[in-house]
Amino acid sequence: MNILILGSGGREHALTWAVKQNPKCDRLIVAPGNAGIAQIAECAALDIEDGGAVASFAAENAIDFVIIGPEAPLACGVADRLREAGLLVFGPSAGAARLEASKSFTKEICDAANAPTAGYGHFTDAEAAKAHIRANGAPIVVKADGLAAGKGVIVAMTEQEALDAIDDMFGGAFGGAGAEVVIEEFMEGEEASLFVLVDGEEVLSVGTAQDHKRVGEGDTGPNTGGMGAYSPAPVLSAEIERIAMDEIVKPTMAEMVKRGVPFQGILYAGLMIKDGQPRLVEYNVRYGDPECQVLMLRLGAQAFDLIHAAAEGRLAETSVNWADDHAMTVVMAANGYPGSYEKGSEIKGLNILPDDSSQVVFHAGTKADGDKIVASGGRVLNVTARGATLQEARDRAYAMAESIDWPEGFYRNDIGWRAL
Ligand code: AMP
Ligand code: GLY
Repeated sequence: MNILILGSGGREHALTWAVKQNPKCDRLIVAPGNAGIAQIAECAALDIEDGGAVASFAAENAIDFVIIGPEAPLACGVADRLREAGLLVFGPSAGAARLEASKSFTKEICDAANAPTAGYGHFTDAEAAKAHIRANGAPIVVKADGLAAGKGVIVAMTEQEALDAIDDMFGGAFGGAGAEVVIEEFMEGEEASLFVLVDGEEVLSVGTAQDHKRVGEGDTGPNTGGMGAYSPAPVLSAEIERIAMDEIVKPTMAEMVKRGVPFQGILYAGLMIKDGQPRLVEYNVRYGDPECQVLMLRLGAQAFDLIHAAAEGRLAETSVNWADDHAMTVVMAANGYPGSYEKGSEIKGLNILPDDSSQVVFHAGTKADGDKIVASGGRVLNVTARGATLQEARDRAYAMAESIDWPEGFYRNDIGWRAL
């Protein structure tokens, strides 16, 4: 099979790594890819948010199957355009991608499906939003309705912070994404993520993970896209996973079918867990980054069979062959991230690292400069390992991170601390 993967981050490097190992894979092209991906697959320059351009490229290259990594092309209908062209696609339609692209849509689906989530109000007017905040007090959570690259959520510990967030959002701080806001009840608990393949109403759990969103050790400092992750998430026990599937995932997916927008792809359920009860924080319509990296390392080549089965509507006859293992990924980021940082610094020592089914360095923001690898983004490398225990996975990952020679980068030393 000729396969095209869309995206350029660590998530897509991990997907490429897993797909490449599967004997069903003949030719593998990644657009646009990065320097790490280029070591194991062909890379092609392509505007992945232009569905017409992707469809033409797929036709020219005899592509049989397209796997869409990030949310942006999904939200703007690239999957729809490719399906119209007769291609097999992994990833939801634009209509179903609203589960990530519109917070108010997700809340409405949860209400209709009676799925446990935070109480909320939906506002298109700043004064009404402020009145709601004054009536409810802090802590309270203010969210831009649309996609805001992970930055549209303000967890306000004081009423003033929440009121200021309303001014920012209606003042255009998040562009069109902030023209509507959702204000939510603050939920306490421990967060974890559940990843579920979906082909309409059929669902299949493909693992749990926890990430570290804050830049600093002890989970302090500004929010990032994720500084590290591990799988499985101990807080998401088999019983809590069952409750989350029965009370949240299955009823909301059934509601999507009922509304004529069935979901197909990977559903990332962000959960808040307290006293044995999960509640939905958010849905994403793609693999988490860097959560995907730990899931792919644990699943290996079968990850492709699972994705393929979801795309072909065969999940009912599919199961996961789990090893009793743990995986961890440590993100190496450019000094200054998530604020401003420099690009172009050289990363040395990558070619002497182990690279096997238990340890891999996935590239997130790198590019080749002659025979050098240089940083080209904020999150740059995902040092990923697995082991029989989380401690073993951790030791392997950190041993690799320590031997990478990149003074212009940093990483957190405490990934997994809650679980260890
Ligand atoms: P989201 O983009 O919706 O996942 O929100 C980003 C982060 O904000 C989440 O991962 C949580 O840590 C936090 N958050 C979002 N909604 C709530 C809520 N209702 N209560 C507490 N924390 C929240
Ligand atoms: N790691 C969080 C995300 O992918 O949204």
